[in-house]
Parts: sequence; structure tokens; C-alpha cells
Amino acid sequence: MINYNVISKIKEYAKENNVPIMSDSGIKYLTDFIRENNIKKILEIGTAIGYSAIMMCSVDSSITVTTIERNEKRYLEAIKNIKRVNMEDRIDPIYKDAFDVNLKDKFDLIFIDAAKAQNTRFFEKFESNLNNGGIIITDNMNFHGLVYKEEEIESRNLRQLVRKIKSYKVFLEKNDKYSTTFIDVGDGIAISRKVD
Ligand SMILES: C[S@@+](CC[C@H](N)C(=O)[O-])C[C@H]1O[C@@H](n2cnc3c(N)ncnc32)[C@H](O)[C@@H]1O
Repeated sequence: MINYNVISKIKEYAKENNVPIMSDSGIKYLTDFIRENNIKKILEIGTAIGYSAIMMCSVDSSITVTTIERNEKRYLEAIKNIKRVNMEDRIDPIYKDAFDVNLKDKFDLIFIDAAKAQNTRFFEKFESNLNNGGIIITDNMNFHGLVYKEEEIESRNLRQLVRKIKSYKVFLEKNDKYSTTFIDVGDGIAISRKVD
């Protein structure tokens, strides 16, 4: 049984230290999805402090998560948090840039929640690690609503980032190896199911 006291402390730490973690509605959708689709083996790109990895693992005791983080401080905090909930046996955190990680394992679910401008590259790098019938989920497809008001964005860098998220959306829509649904929950989630 998950320790909700620890979970609320992790959420508090994220808030105080400006660590972006999944929204409550997003994490609820994700964990329900994992339960309903009987997902057992997960790869996550973007651990931050381990919140989503812990929440995904807490769906069922047979679930395992491999998760990648390139920020040392966050990685170390994730290790601490994983220990606090006794999930060291089921969550395998990797401290590296995801583009330098080469895995042989296959996963039922790949959850992409890292640098938003790199989504297409993450997708293309890790899709060979997906089981047949597997699913790739991407968070922040709406990017805090900014995807719908690009013309109002003053910062050039931010506009560039929003354009990249939009072109990732087109990439998913055109990719006929996957059937993708966009769900307007949390910050917008894309669910791409590999077509057998
Ligand atoms: C939105 S946060 C992840 C939140 C986490 N999934 C949660 O909901 O609890 C994104 C994280 O991805 C990490 N990140 C970004 N690009 C990365 C890369 N190329 N390789 C590894 N980690 C990366 C960032 O350092 C950041 O901590």
C-alpha cells in the first residue's frame, strides 16, 4: 500500500523547488490507464524526483519502471524518494542523458516526459524498445495552453518550443505505425498505440 504521507511530502518538495511533476488529473488518468491496460513493464524518460515513477509503480506490485534523468540533484532526490516508499526492487533509476542510454529490454509502455522540444527524437530513439501492441504516452501536449495561443507568446525561445510541440503532434498524426489519440486531461496527453 502506498504511503500517501510520503507522496504529499514529495509533491510539497516539487512545489517548493520548482520541479515540474505531473498534475493530479494527469497522474490519475495515467495510473487508471496502466491498470485498465494491464501494463507491467514501463520505461520513463524524465524521472525528475521520482513522483510519476512511484505513482505508476503503485498501481500493482508486479509493475516495474526503468526511469532516466540527466539532472544530478533530481536524480539523487528520486533515489531518496524511491527508498522512502520501499520500491528499490521495482524502480530502476538511470542517471544519464536519455540520448546516451541504450537499452535492450522491451517495454509495454514508454512514458515521455522530458525536454519537450526533443519529443520526436525521444520517440524515434526508444520506439525499438516497445513491445508489439505497446504504447507510447507523451505528456504536456498542450504545454500549459500555449499550444493554442502561439501568436500571443512574446519570447522567441518559447515560441520555438511551442512550434516543436506542434510539429511533434503532426509527426504522431502522420505516423501510420501508431494509432494516436490526444486526450485533453492534465496538460494534454498523447497516447500512441503501436499497430501490430
Ligand atoms: C517534467 S520533468 C519529469 C516529471 C516526472 N515525470 C513526474 O511527473 O514526476 C522532466 C525531467 O526530464 C529531465 N530531462 C530532460 N531532458 C532529458 C534528457 N535528455 N535525458 C534525461 N532527462 C531529461 C529534466 O531534467 C526533468 O527533470
